[in-house]
Order: sequence, then C-alpha cells, then structure tokens
Amino acid sequence: MSNDGTSLQSLNTFSIAAHAAAITYINSTAQLVETWKKAKEKNQPFLLLGEGSNVLFLEDFSGSVALNRIKGIEVTENSEEWLLHVGSGENWHELVCYALEHNIPGLENLALIPGCVGSAPIQNIGAYGIELQNVCQYVDVLNMNSGEIKQLKAEECQFGYRESIFKHAYKDGYAIVAVGFRLTKHWQPKLTYGDLTRLDPHSVTPREIFDSVCAMRMSKLPDPAITGNAGSFYKNPTVDSVVAEKIQRDYPSMPSYPQANGQVKLAAGWLVEQANLKGFCIGGAAVHQNQALVLINKDHASSADVRALAKHVRDSVAAKFGIWLEPEVRFIAASGEVNAVEALS
Ligand code: FAD
Ligand code: EPU
Repeated sequence: MSNDGTSLQSLNTFSIAAHAAAITYINSTAQLVETWKKAKEKNQPFLLLGEGSNVLFLEDFSGSVALNRIKGIEVTENSEEWLLHVGSGENWHELVCYALEHNIPGLENLALIPGCVGSAPIQNIGAYGIELQNVCQYVDVLNMNSGEIKQLKAEECQFGYRESIFKHAYKDGYAIVAVGFRLTKHWQPKLTYGDLTRLDPHSVTPREIFDSVCAMRMSKLPDPAITGNAGSFYKNPTVDSVVAEKIQRDYPSMPSYPQANGQVKLAAGWLVEQANLKGFCIGGAAVHQNQALVLINKDHASSADVRALAKHVRDSVAAKFGIWLEPEVRFIAASGEVNAVEALS
C-alpha cells in the first residue's frame, strides 16, 4: 500500500490505489471553508470525504481531497428524550458505542456501519430495521461559499431509502458539519430483521441487540481492514408488483418486501446469486462468497477491475431478470462524482 502524502489507498475502504493532487485533514468548519476557497481559487476540483466507505475511485482525483475530522459529542436531556449534537467527523460506530456506554439506547441496530456521522444522513444509512431518519432530529449544513450554516429539520431532509436532499439540492458546495439526534427515553426494541426476531422483546437489552447485529454483520460482510469493499455495491431495487409476481412464479422462495405504495422491494443480493455470480472474478475484483451484493478487492484490484465486474453483474442480472440494478456506491472520476449508472452503461 502506497503511503505518500497524496495516496488515497488507505482512505477508501475498497483500497483502490488512486492519488489526489492534495489531501487535507479538516478539524473545523473554518478550515473547511478555507480549504474549499483555496481549491476554487486554483480552479481545482474539491472532494469532501469521511472514511471513504461508500466511494469507488475510477482514476486519480485531479483536485483537493478534504478529510472530515470535525469532532465533538454534546448530550442534553429532558424528561422524554436524550438530545445529541455530534460533529460530522466523529466515527459512526464509536458514536453507537458511546451511546450504549452512557445508557442511551436507540442506535444499537445501526452498529458496525463504517464511516462518519456526517455521511450518515446523505444516504440515510440503514440496517436491521432502522434508518438514520428514525433517530435524526436535524442536520447542520455549511454553505462553503458563504460560510453560513443552516439547520435542516429531519422533515426537511427528504429522507428515503438510501436517499436524501444531500444527494440533490444540498450536494455541490455544501458540507454537513453536525447531526442532531433525538433518542426517546421510552425505548422499544426493534426486532423485525434477521436473527433479531429470535430475541425476546420483553427482556432484551440494547446491548444484546448490539451484540446480535455485530455477529450477523461479521458473519456476512467482509471487514474492509482485511478485504477491500464498500458494503452493498447496489441498492435493492423496487419494482411493480406484477414484475415481482412474475419472477416469484419461477422462484417461489424469492425474498420480497411489499412497500406502502403497492410496489415490491427485491433483494439485489439474491438476484446476483441467482445469476450464478457468487465468487465470480474479473482481475483482482470478485463477488463476495457470503453476500453477493458486496463486490470485493480480492487481490490488488484496479478500479478498472471493479468497474468491469460491476458492469458484468449489472448486465447479467438484467439479462436474467430484466431488472437493472443501480449502484449505491458513489463513483468518483478525476474531476468529481460521475453518474454511476452511466459509468456502467
Ligand atoms: P464517504 O465514502 O467518505 O463519502 C460518501 C459520499 O458522501 C461522498 O460522495 C462524499 O463526497 C460525501 N460526503 C462525505 N462526507 C460529507 C459531508 N460531511 N458533507 C457532505 N458530503 C459528504 N451503509 C448503510 O446504509 N447500511 C449498512 O449497513 C452499511 N454497511 C456497510 C458495510 C461495509 C463493510 C461498508 C464498507 C460500507 C457499508 N455501508 C452501509 C456504506 C457506508 O458505510 C455508508 O454509506 C457511510 O455513511 C459512508 O460514510 P463515509 O464517511 O465513509 O462516507
Ligand atoms: N441474499 C441471498 N444471497 C446473497 C445475499 C442476500 O439470497 O448473496 C438474500 C438473503 O438471504 C435475504 C435477502 O437476500 O433473504 C436480504 O439479504 P441481507 O439480509 O443480507 O440484506 P441486504 O438486502 O443484502 C441490506 C442493506 C445492507 C444492510 C442489510 C441489513 C441495501 C443495499 N443493503 O442488505 O446495507 O446492512 O440490509 O439491514 O439496502 C450497505 O448499504 O452497504 C449495506 C451493507
């Protein structure tokens, strides 16, 4: 692994060997504004990164990368709830552990998700029956041109499945600098997903949920410290119920999740597995054996390997089921983010 001052290899969990023109660690909003302005003066592209756990670098980045390390956790409480104001550069899993250690339940289903707290609202991170929107009170977003910070209430963030306003109107020129959480003192366990359904809702503790979530995650998902990956490579697709029923006639055991709007969410990992792609490799990139929705850097994969594999998986699923998967991972080219679907077309 290259360790020179501009290597991005240890700064993206896919461990892709790309470089940037400059890399700056950011500890304050003032420093973020200054770094942004410097890049703009030089006409350089600018990329704010948390822990690089949801990006694929397609090539070297020709501009300035800012690494968000804005810290701080402040806790207040009233008779009904705990209120946490958290710097966006705090590590997400460490926040989950902090809350648990301080007897503040509510984040335990979201244990072990890599990345920073400030990245969590962007795709409304979710796992094991909970999404960020269930615990978020507000998001503080910095306009890097004016230096102004605006507080968006959770209701204004347009949260959806792997979606928010931070992928759209508040994308270019904005940075999330803090997130507010509201955690109720009337905690109810959320035990709807996977092995959690086996726990007793009357006696279960937040710590037991945390332990169970960590165990499930470790049994399926590769640890990026050992095997490069960016979690689920694609989103789970939502299709018309007619499309789902048609596939279900041939595959009665297909997992499916009916949605409120009458559509049906399908499991992309199942579709990839049925396309017979578990373990399939292109160059150093492979489809993970334990979870086909995860693409891994098996052996010094280049970004071209991962991109070719991602295209092959997408094309194969479309050929077999007529469903085009959309990447969840954000694709970064030399001057900034590019449309991931177009990059695979
Ligand atoms: P990065 O990858 O650094 O950045 C992601 C995007 O956000 C980039 O476009 C970046 O420019 C932008 N960005 C980063 N910080 C800011 C900011 N402060 N303001 C504005 N824009 C910013 N996700 C889930 O939802 N659920 C899971 O269960 C899950 N499991 C995972 C398991 C593994 C093993 C891995 C590797 C990933 C997993 N992910 C999961 C994806 C990932 O953890 C989340 O998307 C996480 O929120 C990314 O955080 P990050 O700090 O690494 O973001
Ligand atoms: N499945 C297969 N084969 C596979 C993978 C999955 O048949 O290779 C089946 C499973 O048996 C199950 C269904 O597909 O019936 C769903 O699988 P799983 O519970 O592993 O969850 P997922 O839908 O693949 C989603 C999120 C994860 C999150 C888990 C747990 C997306 C894109 N992914 O995965 O988030 O941790 O649920 O809640 O929504 C991420 O976003 O990076 C991520 C890891």
